[in-house]
Amino acid sequence: MKGTNQMIRKIALSALTALGLVAGGSAFAAGGAGHVEDYDFSFEGPFGTYDQMQLQRGLQVYTEICAACHGLQYVSFRALGYDGGPHLPGDQVRAYAEFYEVFDEELDDFRPARPTDYFPKSGLENAPDLSLMAKARAGFHGPYGLGINQLFKGMGGPEYIASLLTGYTGEEKEEFGSVFYENKAFPGGWIAMSPPLYGDDVEYEDGSPAEIEDLAKDVSAFLMWTAEPGLNARKEAGFISVLFLIILSVLLYLTNKRIWAPIKKGKAATPAE
Ligand code: HEC
Repeated sequence: MKGTNQMIRKIALSALTALGLVAGGSAFAAGGAGHVEDYDFSFEGPFGTYDQMQLQRGLQVYTEICAACHGLQYVSFRALGYDGGPHLPGDQVRAYAEFYEVFDEELDDFRPARPTDYFPKSGLENAPDLSLMAKARAGFHGPYGLGINQLFKGMGGPEYIASLLTGYTGEEKEEFGSVFYENKAFPGGWIAMSPPLYGDDVEYEDGSPAEIEDLAKDVSAFLMWTAEPGLNARKEAGFISVLFLIILSVLLYLTNKRIWAPIKKGKAATPAE
C-alpha cells in the first residue's frame, strides 16, 4: 500500500514538474492558506544544522517580546545549554532561569526557576504555546494535498512563523469587540495578535542586523529548535550511517571480487590451455 502511494506520488510529481507547476509552487501556497515566503534557514537540507548564534539571538527575541504573551511549557531551561541548541554555558542557563518564577508545591510558594524547571505556560489566555508551533504549522501546501511543496521546500513551519511576523499590512478591524489585524500569512487573513515587531525592538550584543525580518527569522529558527531540539544529532547520525553504508559497500565489492578471483582467472585461462 505504501509502495503504491509512493509510486502515485512519484508519477504525479514528475508530471507536474514537466508542466512547470512545481517551480511556480508559491502561487498555490497563496491560495486560502496565506502567503508564506520561502526563507532560507541554516538547518535546511540533508546536512543543514542549527546556527548556534542565531538560536541565541532568537532566544533573546522570544524573551524580550514574545514571552509577554506566549509560553514554552515543553521546553526546560536546562535544554538551553545542550549541544546542538543555543548551547549557553551553565552559569548563563542558571542566571536565565532565575528570571522566571515558578510555583513550588513543596514550598507552597513561588521561587526563582532552576535549570531543571520548564518555561511557563502562555501568560495571555488566547495566545497559543509556542514550544511545538514550528511543527504544528506547515508553511507550504502543495496543490491537491499532494505535499509537493513540502517535498521540495521542507515543512515550512519556521518559514510560516517568519512570514506571519513580517506579514502585517497595517490594516485593522474590530469585530465582536476584539481587534483583528490584517496579515498576509495568516490563514483567513485576520489575526488577533497585534504586530509584535516594529524593527529595532531588540538590540543584539553581537551587532547583528535587527530589522523586522532579521528578528522574525531568528525567533523562527529558535522556535524550530524548541520543536525539534535533536535535529543536529539526527542529521549527524544519518550522515554517519550513510558513510558506514558506503564503506560497507566498498568492502563487500572488494571481498566479492577477491572470492571470485580464482574462478574468474581459471575461466579466462581455459582457452589458452
Ligand atoms: C500582545 C501579545 C502577543 C505577543 C507579544 C506576541 N503574540 Fe503571538 N499571538 C498572540 C495571540 C493573541 C495569538 C492568537 C491569534 C489568533 O489566533 O488570531 C497569537 C498567535 C501566534 C502564532 C500562531 C498563529 C497561528 O497560525 O495560529 C504564532 C506563531 C505567534 N503568535 C508567534 C509570536 C512570536 C514569534 C512572537 C514574538 C516575536 C509573538 N507571537 C508575540 C499574542 C501575542
